[in-house]
Amino acid sequence: MTDAPAPLLDIASLYKLFTVGQKPGLFARARGADKPVAKLHAVDNVSFQVARGETMGLVGESGCGKSTLVRLITRLLDPSDGSIRLNGEEIGHMPAKGFGSSPYRPRVQMVFQDATDSLNPRYTAFDAIADPIYRLKPQRLMPLSKDKLKARVEELAELCGLPQALLSRFPHQLSGGQKARVGIARAIAVDPELLILDEPTAALDVSVQVVILQLLETLKQKLGMSYLFVSHDLNVVRLLCDRVMVMYLGKIVEIGPAESVFRNPRHPYTKALLSAIPHFEPGVETQRVRLGGEPRSPIDPSPNVCRFYGRCPKGDSACETTMPELRAMAAGHQAACHKATPDPDFMREVA
Ligand SMILES: Nc1ncnc2c1ncn2[C@@H]1O[C@H](COP(=O)(O)OP(=O)(O)OP(=O)(O)O)[C@@H](O)[C@H]1O
Ligand code: SF4
Ligand SMILES: [Mg+2]
Repeated sequence: MTDAPAPLLDIASLYKLFTVGQKPGLFARARGADKPVAKLHAVDNVSFQVARGETMGLVGESGCGKSTLVRLITRLLDPSDGSIRLNGEEIGHMPAKGFGSSPYRPRVQMVFQDATDSLNPRYTAFDAIADPIYRLKPQRLMPLSKDKLKARVEELAELCGLPQALLSRFPHQLSGGQKARVGIARAIAVDPELLILDEPTAALDVSVQVVILQLLETLKQKLGMSYLFVSHDLNVVRLLCDRVMVMYLGKIVEIGPAESVFRNPRHPYTKALLSAIPHFEPGVETQRVRLGGEPRSPIDPSPNVCRFYGRCPKGDSACETTMPELRAMAAGHQAACHKATPDPDFMREVA
């Protein structure tokens, strides 16, 4: 019997705690600097895997930790604890500072939310796309001749639908959609296996969004990459993603095949999130779930209280004393809620 291949990305018990609090100094007491320094739990015991060729969606409200999680995976940030494995090899323990020169750097690339902010204003489109090829020097382009570099940049521009005439322009001379294409061409320039997309179309108008999403879908088919796709647009996530994870205050509260999660969400937060999509299921009237209460603080949260307690319409005293763990609800579908009920057919099958 042969062993199953390792998943492309394997995240296990990952944490990122930011130290927050006031440092003493002038007016220390006035600004509360006598308070002890605390820990903000941005990513709190997160585990999941992404298979080769898979598109995994990541959704959740602002501040739940999506960008922090993807920044840990791209190793722009150091984890506080836990493991990040790429093709079975641990990359979580390498310091973020040295990661830029490691052979793993080209294998995980990122497309940022705001192409304008992420492009160097002093670099033309050509320079922006050439930069990672030059810096990360994938083996197949060595030795890097001027002609080879030019040919590769032009090939990438064509792949991303960017006219050659635009390659000599600076970011301020490009439209939002053109900048997004430069950002994507730059990210795929070094043949990544995993492309992380942190709200890649959020800054674009709707018609351009559609074109860029189609481009991403085409590139995935052509180049065989896996995507980790962060978005607030649930309809897009449903359309593009094979699986989806729902994050709430640093924790994954639901994960599963997109179809299963969208058709039959089990966690009260996912239900509330999906109920906010207008005309989500044609012909099906969804009742908007309105959440009361205030979100809990991510600073030094209690390890025993469900993070959604206080806002959850189903919460009771059990939710205040025991943190719910992810449990199987249906095939490949898990939710972290004491009150979530698994699919009876699925339970009969696994019994
Ligand atoms: N460098 C930092 N120092 C302290 N706290 C931080 C830092 N970066 C992020 N945070 C906090 O971590 C939490 C998660 O932030 P993050 O940016 O990951 O959220 P997000 O889900 O990406 O939000 P959005 O949807 O608005 O982009 C927030 O409470 C944020 O204030
Ligand atoms: S465990 Fe309790 S508070 Fe948490 S989501 Fe479930 S019902 Fe709501
Ligand atoms: Mg973010």
